Amino acid sequence: MTYKLLFVCLGNICRSPSAENIMNHLIKEAGLEDKIVCDSSGTSGYHIGAPPDERMNLAANKRGLELQGKARRLKPVDLQRFDLILAMDRENYQDIVYLDREGKHEDKVRLLCDFATQKTDREVPDPYYGGQDGFDYVIDLLFDSCAGLLDYVVSSPEYQAKPHR
Ligand code: 4NP
Repeated sequence: MTYKLLFVCLGNICRSPSAENIMNHLIKEAGLEDKIVCDSSGTSGYHIGAPPDERMNLAANKRGLELQGKARRLKPVDLQRFDLILAMDRENYQDIVYLDREGKHEDKVRLLCDFATQKTDREVPDPYYGGQDGFDYVIDLLFDSCAGLLDYVVSSPEYQAKPHR
């Protein structure tokens, strides 16, 4: 059984696909690709089917990654299917929790920046309407947050309780 992570932003073309790709990179480096899997989605339907934003991909290229993915919208069943759901900002957090009408899954929803150990940002800023430096900053913040997230996941009781083959 795998531990399932879902990254969520507004459009699913900038922040959350980057987080997914960076996390997959770190998981692979750690040799844990059979144990932890990642996905991403957006709270809006603005960009359904679109690949990651070119400016975001350029920022990722500078750190050696080529972003993969196709935007999809977050759906209520995602709250059941994933073990941990990572919101990029507080608005995403509220929109995710809003889908959890019975309040059964709120404890699985966290702000990704809670896991950063170097940077002090509380949210991943939306880079969409800004310049390239904003996209570069998001990549740095995501590398920091995802490294902390991986440490958190592997030491969590929920991960350790999964019957890993
Ligand atoms: P993301 O960025 O939520 O990180 O994918 C955005 C993408 C698109 C829009 C806003 C933010 N938009 O307004 O279309």
